[in-house]
Amino acid sequence: MSLTLNSTEELLGYTVAKDLLAGQVILVTGAGSGLGREIARACAAHGATVILLGRTIKKLEMVYDSIVAAGHPEPAIYPMNLEGAAWNNYEELAATLQTEFGRLDGLVNNAVHFESLKPMAETTPPDWMKHLHINLNASLFMTQVCLGLLNASDNGSVIFMSDSAGAQAKPFWGPYAVAKAGLDCLSQLWAGELRNTGLRMNSLDPGPVKSKLHELAYPAAASNSFRQPQEVLPAILYLLGRDSEHVSGKRLVIEAPTQQV
Ligand SMILES: NC(=O)c1ccc[n+]([C@@H]2O[C@H](COP(=O)([O-])OP(=O)(O)OC[C@H]3O[C@@H](n4cnc5c(N)ncnc54)[C@H](OP(=O)(O)O)[C@@H]3O)[C@@H](O)[C@H]2O)c1
Repeated sequence: MSLTLNSTEELLGYTVAKDLLAGQVILVTGAGSGLGREIARACAAHGATVILLGRTIKKLEMVYDSIVAAGHPEPAIYPMNLEGAAWNNYEELAATLQTEFGRLDGLVNNAVHFESLKPMAETTPPDWMKHLHINLNASLFMTQVCLGLLNASDNGSVIFMSDSAGAQAKPFWGPYAVAKAGLDCLSQLWAGELRNTGLRMNSLDPGPVKSKLHELAYPAAASNSFRQPQEVLPAILYLLGRDSEHVSGKRLVIEAPTQQV
């Protein structure tokens, strides 16, 4: 039976069945640290074989080890730096996944580049290009190259990690915000094109979550103004599992915690 979850309370309160992702194959980008690491571990804990894609092999190996030590399905490591990756590198990835797995049930476009808050007037061409490339272009290329694999699944789900900085055009968030707004648009227009297929695409704003990105943006944030990565995982697992099989073209939002004084 499918479930419609919209509000922050509903998304965070989703009860994740232990075997929600049993037998599924899920690719997570930026899986070596931050939210991506926790998404990868949670997918494995719920039965998925996870492809850990990232740029720092040591970090990916640590995630691999923690999944294996926990007795979850053995993941795969795929080192890839999205900054320098060319189209043929994406094609090589897809060919490898085709050979090893034959399909993909989930793709979480999670990897992100963020340096600091900065006025637009001080944003240099290299800043702009790097943020747009890693945060928008790479998600487009990753999804395009994985389409055949995703179409081979009967539960194909793509998640684009969004941010209110883009949807609300927050001052000083510069090219990061523009890229995130672009991902929301990309997700929705693509979902529209896929309306009569089983493949779905959604974007999810996880709200403020403790991570390197969050520390760079809010070095003095009060501890009650953000969540731990584990707290937002139910929303991501919901979008990957069959309970959301009717959900596509949505932008789901986890609101910031209400701060108690
Ligand atoms: N944290 C928040 O408050 C928040 C709020 C809204 C939305 N989000 C979104 O949630 C997602 C996860 O964010 P996060 O907070 O976990 O960020 P994070 O802590 O900065 O982690 C980013 C991840 O992306 C990887 N990465 C960076 N550049 C890469 C590249 N060139 N190639 C491959 N991988 C690369 C990093 O790898 P390394 O570890 O090797 O550097 C890291 O694993 C992002 O899409 C972000 O926009 C986060």
